[in-house]
Amino acid sequence: MKVDITNTDDVKRLVNQFYDKVNADKDLSFVFNDVAKVNWEAHLPIMYRFWNANLLGIPEYKGYVIDAHFSLNEKVKLTQALFDRWLTLFEETVDFYFDGPTAQLAKQRAQTIAQLMFYKLRQ
Ligand code: HEM
Repeated sequence: MKVDITNTDDVKRLVNQFYDKVNADKDLSFVFNDVAKVNWEAHLPIMYRFWNANLLGIPEYKGYVIDAHFSLNEKVKLTQALFDRWLTLFEETVDFYFDGPTAQLAKQRAQTIAQLMFYKLRQ
């Protein structure tokens, strides 16, 4: 039976599995690895903190999520197709492992932030 996202281990699992999918996706992997040259050891803990804050109310994340994507968007256009792919992989990951109100919240938050981010990047 699937469980809801209730603790930091769940968040870690969600983030790790999601970025495994990102890395296996040709177009997203190109952006993360070839363009942004992401240091995964540094990036993953930031993402744990981001989702711990958003889903569990643990105020650990201190960054500016949308701003972080402006410079990236200068290097490679973050298109609607890329955002759609990002969201599909995120939702697939949530649904594969989790079920419940916080799992739903995770998908809603991702969608809202993605929409806002896409809108701001186009301004
Ligand atoms: C096409 C969609 C997206 C792409 C290609 C993308 C890519 C990236 C990349 C390359 C970084 C920088 C990593 C690094 O250099 O360490 C980053 C950071 C980040 N992304 Fe995204 N992203 C996307 C959408 C999103 C969405 C929808 C969210 C939130 C729901 C999100 C949340 C974050 C956060 C929290 C950071 C860390 C910012 C910080 O340093 O504080 N991203 N993203």
